[in-house]
Amino acid sequence: MYSEELKKGYLEKKIDPSLDLFKEIKYLQQKKNAVILAHYYQDADIQDIADYIGDSLGLAQEAQKTDAKIILFAGVHFMAETAKILNPAKKVLIPDLKAGCSLADSCPPEKFAAFKQQHPDHIVITYINCTAEIKALSDIICTSSNAVKIVESLPKDQKIIFAPDKNLGAYINKKTGRNMVLWDGACMVHEIFSLEKIIKLKIQHPEAELIAHPECEAAVLEKADFIGSTTALLNYSKKSNKKEFIVATETGILHQMQKASPGKTFIPAPPNNSCACNDCPYMKLNTLEKIYNALKYEQPELLMDESLLLSAKKPIVKMLELSSRFGL
Ligand code: 13P
Ligand code: SF4
Repeated sequence: MYSEELKKGYLEKKIDPSLDLFKEIKYLQQKKNAVILAHYYQDADIQDIADYIGDSLGLAQEAQKTDAKIILFAGVHFMAETAKILNPAKKVLIPDLKAGCSLADSCPPEKFAAFKQQHPDHIVITYINCTAEIKALSDIICTSSNAVKIVESLPKDQKIIFAPDKNLGAYINKKTGRNMVLWDGACMVHEIFSLEKIIKLKIQHPEAELIAHPECEAAVLEKADFIGSTTALLNYSKKSNKKEFIVATETGILHQMQKASPGKTFIPAPPNNSCACNDCPYMKLNTLEKIYNALKYEQPELLMDESLLLSAKKPIVKMLELSSRFGL
């Protein structure tokens, strides 16, 4: 579907090193009537150039309501795909087609279809971090900010399959007292945190609050003072009267936390080895250079099969309707 020029996932065009990329991107954006949507896990400079920064729900809502001609999505593939599904007539650009997601990869469509067949009387609630093929096999999509409410809106005796994140699924089961059948998937970034190192850090910083994303393992969540989506974690850090926070999610969110609360200290929760594995390698594939080229040449464009787009749209629209009913 994509040209040979895009085999690396992005256009390899030389950029004049004397260019001020912030200025050039803003110029192209206005000239082409493009909106830049960015997830909180993007590098700080990308967040600073974005028109809207948000969590997965906020980004989907923003993608649904934009009247720009072009959406440049600084996030990962499933997020850009969701924007395209909600806006089939618009051009959706993604700086690097290879910006995937380990969680989405943990749920291959053929295997998931077979799993679904084993549970014929269950409805399927799927976390937005999945491919369009998985969305097309789902009844309702959710994100970390509406998942609990969506599950609670269903009758208590409704049998549910939850996919692909087993950690988020287990967290919802615990919160709602349900017994959803869980697909065995996980995010490589949120599974890397070391409980032992977090406990040591808490001893060194006794006043610090541990705030965690629900994609983390249960043992980390049990120790958390607050659990929520990236937006919820950011809002909590603004409102809390504590001055120190240990943040158990991808490090990109620290940029907005620090900007919103310059007097507070944010410590990234440590991984279980010495690498920077709490940086998402997919999110971090995006750069200002790739964004500049994507806007200039209007490539890579996210392309989708029409019938897949239509079947993936239904459960996303259902999620957006439920979210607005819940006031989210
Ligand atoms: P939210 O920003 O919706 O909390 O999702 C986190 C995430 O892992 C996105 O890939
Ligand atoms: Fe996927 Fe995890 Fe990266 Fe989010 S942080 S995009 S869930 S691999």
